[in-house]
Amino acid sequence: MTTQMFSYLQARYPLNPTMSCTYMRRPGGHPTCTGMMNSSSRRYHHFQLGRKALFTLSERASLWKEVEKQERQEDEKEPSPTCRGTRTRPLPSVVAVDPKPCKGSIFSYAIDCLEMLIVKMMYMYDSSSPPRYLSGNFAPVPAETPPTTDLPVTGHLPECLNGEFMRVGPNPKFAPVAGYHWFDGDGMIHGICIKNGRATYVSRYVKTSRFKQEEFLGGAKFFKVGDIKGHFGLLMFIPQILRLLLMDLSYGHGTGNTSLVYHHGKLLALCESDKPYAIKILEDGDLQTLGILDYDKRLGHSFTAHPKIDPFTGEMFTFGYSQMVPYITYRVISKDGFMHDPVLITLSDQPLMIHDFAITRNYAIFMDLPLYFRPKRKQYALYI
Ligand SMILES: [Fe+2]
Repeated sequence: MTTQMFSYLQARYPLNPTMSCTYMRRPGGHPTCTGMMNSSSRRYHHFQLGRKALFTLSERASLWKEVEKQERQEDEKEPSPTCRGTRTRPLPSVVAVDPKPCKGSIFSYAIDCLEMLIVKMMYMYDSSSPPRYLSGNFAPVPAETPPTTDLPVTGHLPECLNGEFMRVGPNPKFAPVAGYHWFDGDGMIHGICIKNGRATYVSRYVKTSRFKQEEFLGGAKFFKVGDIKGHFGLLMFIPQILRLLLMDLSYGHGTGNTSLVYHHGKLLALCESDKPYAIKILEDGDLQTLGILDYDKRLGHSFTAHPKIDPFTGEMFTFGYSQMVPYITYRVISKDGFMHDPVLITLSDQPLMIHDFAITRNYAIFMDLPLYFRPKRKQYALYI
């Protein structure tokens, strides 16, 4: 159990970004538990980014105070751009998303007809009950809500309580053509801004490339995880492959619907199949999608929805997985928003899906999970 769960330990701060850690190959399987590696503390000491090594609780506490002091000084220096009351930071490397899909051609109409034909002939859906992830607690809200001020307050909001509480989740703008899974919905952020004893509510879609293109085309056009059901799912790949000629995938195809993280003065909406979307909180509590954050083009792969931030150093640790080599890539982003060189993780010799990971003081832990992409093995490929 331990071998399977804790399968790859990557030093958080590798000396050589291209150097992979040693690993043991499990008999008959893929690379797995590392056991002991090079001394992490030695690596830590040699880490060239000027970070102070953290070894004792007292040292950590004093560094934490130092970090708080520096942030207070920065807050005092610069005016607040948002109702959050945080310091102003430059927002470099946010790429405006402006996809250019084709619309109105006979080819696009033919693809839509083909899709409808496949759905009509092959999709076995019981229309007497609504799809699970579009009903009950999962039912989407029909529209965005602009900032709604002065919400009724039961009791009293302390004057000192200022900030924004936000959550993101899937909320499809357009009804699916056929199947739908929770993963498929467009990301919608709901926010409660509390400021000077008053509360404001807002909900806005994350304006992803996928969202903009479907809005432009007036319907659901991107492939749905909910369509992957046996032979029907295979047939639904046909119109999707043809649509590659019409849709603009240069900005990715993620939904930004999975989680939010705040790092380097930026609020990021995340989906593990895409890059982060930077969200700006406006003075009135409204939310604006700025674009894709690619860290000055240093980020070339997907970005987990569950990066980890070290509260003591302010660094963010993340990874991305791919169906192409390298299958897993580990990244460290400094407190100042600089993305360091990629570290290739050799956990697997085949593509796999990995949703989350963990960090300790010295290690990043990648788990050996059993969900693989094996398109050559038909019995699995049909039901991935
Ligand atoms: Fe998750």
